[in-house]
Amino acid sequence: MKKYTTFILVGLILVLAAALIGVLTFMKNQPPQQRAVQPLVEIAAMEPDSARWGINFPNQWTSFQKTATNNIDTTYGGSSQFSWLERDPRQKILFAGYAFSKDYNDDRGHMNALTDVRKTKRLVLTHDDLTKTTHATCYSCKSSDNPGLWAKLGMEAYDKMLFDEMTPQINNSIGCSNCHEAGTMKLIVTNPALKEALEAQGKDWTTFTRQEMRTVVCANCHVEYYFKGDGKYLTFPWAKGTDLDSIIAYYEESGFKDWVYPDTGTPMLKAQHPEYETFTAGSTHYNAGVSCADCHMPYVSDGAAKYSSHDVHSPLLNAEQACGQCHTDVDYVVGRVNEIQDQVHTTKQNTEDAIVDAINAIKAAAANPGADAKLLDQARNLHRKAQFMWDFVSAENSTGFHNPEYALKILAESTNLARQAQMLAAQSVGDMSLLATGTYYENGDAAPVATPTP
Ligand code: HEC
Ligand code: HEC
Ligand code: HEC
Ligand code: HEC
Repeated sequence: MKKYTTFILVGLILVLAAALIGVLTFMKNQPPQQRAVQPLVEIAAMEPDSARWGINFPNQWTSFQKTATNNIDTTYGGSSQFSWLERDPRQKILFAGYAFSKDYNDDRGHMNALTDVRKTKRLVLTHDDLTKTTHATCYSCKSSDNPGLWAKLGMEAYDKMLFDEMTPQINNSIGCSNCHEAGTMKLIVTNPALKEALEAQGKDWTTFTRQEMRTVVCANCHVEYYFKGDGKYLTFPWAKGTDLDSIIAYYEESGFKDWVYPDTGTPMLKAQHPEYETFTAGSTHYNAGVSCADCHMPYVSDGAAKYSSHDVHSPLLNAEQACGQCHTDVDYVVGRVNEIQDQVHTTKQNTEDAIVDAINAIKAAAANPGADAKLLDQARNLHRKAQFMWDFVSAENSTGFHNPEYALKILAESTNLARQAQMLAAQSVGDMSLLATGTYYENGDAAPVATPTP
């Protein structure tokens, strides 16, 4: 009997010791937030006021607030609001007839999102012609008030409201409630359009791993989207997949257009900011299991506290932290970023030239009543596709870095389609002079000669 007791006791001690080691190892490997934190204040579900969350999480809040004042630029990105139209006047031609030809600035930090959307000249605020008035949908990615408003109104009613009708209910820029669930601090999908887009592909985000969520949480906003129907219902065109080919196939089937290009009659598409789609389309980093947060929100230390920097900006400004956790030779990888971006930037401008040439040829052909309508329509369709492909790379904010091979492949195909469009336009009127290249430029000058249609 005594022997058994000893046995049981020893067994018990071993089991307890193993359990203790297990628990300790588990705790050690947990991300910072899962260590016991005594909340100082209770945060209401979907609390829009980030300062209130900040009482419990001062490090995250302090670093987040820096996004309001960041203004350092990098070669192709950074945090000032430089104008793309001034930097690259071709874009005035490419977006002629559309609001992006009036005002198109580079992105900056999350705390500025609300100020910036309210002052963009792309807003059309007229109650005289409701088909032209900007809808509340434009607020979807700009405010921590949204999760609460979506819960209260439903996204359909939210999107039907006009922008300035919604304004009194929107008081905060992007904040904690856009990415976290109060209480658990889990990363969550807050944008109903993302939830629906994932569901359309048979995916349920609640089954995603923590590492997946460190990317998916950014897809609440950093994606391609459009406003569906008269109710301007926020929709991600992902039903066929999230890669560019699937997105183009989706838009071709739906026949959607953002605007009609003046004088060519092309039904155009504007790409938004497909960071998520580009990154996840088989990039080296995505395939290696790296997430957006790994580079844009690296762990930093404040004394004993280790936390994710919420000062989200270009990782080239803190490459030691952003890349150094995985790469020993930070100078080398930053050098590679520069090379990749230079190459993508140059290729992108060549593509722009090809599209501008196509536009000129189609304009001339469309003005000719004897043009072969079928060939001209084919030219328009190629112009539509070529420009959307170019824009998919151009509007993506990493100048190709998130997926260099993909970006270059898309630009090459876009140039090819644009040149085909130009040829078809020339053929449609039998006028080979329309095959001229560089028609907007004089003496190799980078500035356009002809004034683009306003
Ligand atoms: C391997 C590191 C890495 C990963 C992963 C990564 N990025 Fe980036 N990101 C960069 C670099 C480098 C740039 C280029 C910055 C520049 O040009 O100054 C960049 C640029 C950006 C920019 C523009 C920044 C600016 O200065 O204007 C945005 C927005 C962005 N990334 C969002 C994302 C999102 C969203 C994801 C995930 C879908 C992601 N990134 C994944 C490294 C990364
Ligand atoms: C609720 C929508 C939303 C979410 C979620 C979001 N972003 Fe943003 N992000 C924006 C908007 C809008 C801007 C541009 C703000 C402006 O220009 O005023 C922006 C800007 C940026 C910039 C440019 C900052 C700069 O200083 O140039 C980076 C980088 C970025 N986001 C990365 C990320 C990453 C990484 C994630 C996920 C961890 C993420 N964002 C999640 C909406 C969002
Ligand atoms: C754009 C999305 C986004 C916003 C906005 C955001 N966070 Fe986070 N937060 C993250 C990501 C991504 C992580 C990393 C989570 C992980 O690794 O599981 C994180 C982690 C955290 C953690 C866990 C500990 C750590 O540092 O890794 C806390 C606490 C936290 N955030 C608090 C806040 C607070 C407070 C705010 C508002 C002031 C806020 N977050 C705003 C994306 C966001
Ligand atoms: C979480 C880990 C991680 C982070 C953070 C990270 N990388 Fe990487 N990176 C990788 C992995 C893994 C590979 C693939 C290595 C391979 O396949 O040989 C890679 C590959 C690369 C390559 C390709 C090497 C080449 O020249 O062909 C470049 C360039 C690169 N990373 C740049 C960066 C930059 C710049 C940053 C910071 C903005 C960064 N990485 C951040 C893990 C990371």
